[in-house]
Amino acid sequence: MKLGLESFQFTEDDSIRFENGALYILDQNALPSDLRFLELRTPSEVANAIKRLSVRGAMAIGIAAAFGVLLGAISSHGDTESIIKAVREAVDLIASTRPTARNLFWALEQMQELLDGAWGVDEKTLMEELEERAMRIASVTVETNKKIVEVGQEIIKDGIGIITHCNSGALAALRFGTALSILIEAHKRGKKIHVYVDETRPLLQGARLSSWELERAGVPYTLLTDGMAGMVMREGKINLAITGADRICLNGDAANKVGTYSLAVLARAHGIPFYIAAPLSTVDFSCRCGDEIKIERRDPVEVRSISGLRIAPENAPVYNPAFDITPAEYISGIVTEEGIARPPFEKSLHSLHGS
Ligand code: MRU
Repeated sequence: MKLGLESFQFTEDDSIRFENGALYILDQNALPSDLRFLELRTPSEVANAIKRLSVRGAMAIGIAAAFGVLLGAISSHGDTESIIKAVREAVDLIASTRPTARNLFWALEQMQELLDGAWGVDEKTLMEELEERAMRIASVTVETNKKIVEVGQEIIKDGIGIITHCNSGALAALRFGTALSILIEAHKRGKKIHVYVDETRPLLQGARLSSWELERAGVPYTLLTDGMAGMVMREGKINLAITGADRICLNGDAANKVGTYSLAVLARAHGIPFYIAAPLSTVDFSCRCGDEIKIERRDPVEVRSISGLRIAPENAPVYNPAFDITPAEYISGIVTEEGIARPPFEKSLHSLHGS
């Protein structure tokens, strides 16, 4: 499908926007204390921003990746051959930043796909196609998540308490996120809900980002350290758990921010339904089960410190997987843009995907 550029435009409220040949991203490392944008002009600046989590969340990094590739093409200043070379180099560089989120590769594959048959195309046309494709990735992300937010309303009953982990709101995508945005929309529609937010160590995406989004939207919430979830469930305050996902396998096993698995097990122990909300583009149809997902390992410094303040011996041995796998057996349903997939997931995901 060809998308006219006029049909999608960034606005100044967007946390990611492409303007005058540069990519502007709201620096998520500076939140919630500072609202500042980073201006990125090369694929390596985009790759660094993704690695450092200045832009983070599966779909946000997909969009940033697409524009990172476009920036590579722009800076090649050359003929079709040099644009193709620059695109290939940018794709390889950005693909090496974070291995787990399916949407990063989903976006890069779509940019790279344009190179098939590009040899016969003049440079102006190729540049237009690349820009149009990156805009399309942004636009599809917005439209898809809008639908997820709508579909998800079905599971948010009036008067319930809900726990979530990490940040799966607008910051993790563009304009609309997944799990957190479902909750924000439920509040906007007048449902009386209370959200419990895990702080999400080591990098505190729950405390810094989800709390910030909930507060701006006026949603009643309580911030918890990760270890408090069981206590709060036992006190009967929680009726539902919901998170986003970075990659979902055919059998329904889902990778998300480390700590999600513990939350799902706790939810099961307390008879609380546990949902994932994610677009079908997060489903890796080539991945049979969670053991096949590559989990990103990050710098030990992130665990030894909080916001730059060291809280452990300088060389304390550390284990720092950025994600964990929640086995499908703990997942009550996966909220997608086409409806809610229920177990057995292999069948329901294929059927929603139409494959
Ligand atoms: O390491 P992060 O902050 O990029 O991890 C993000 C998550 O785990 C989100 O829950 C996930 O990407 C879903 S985004 C709608």
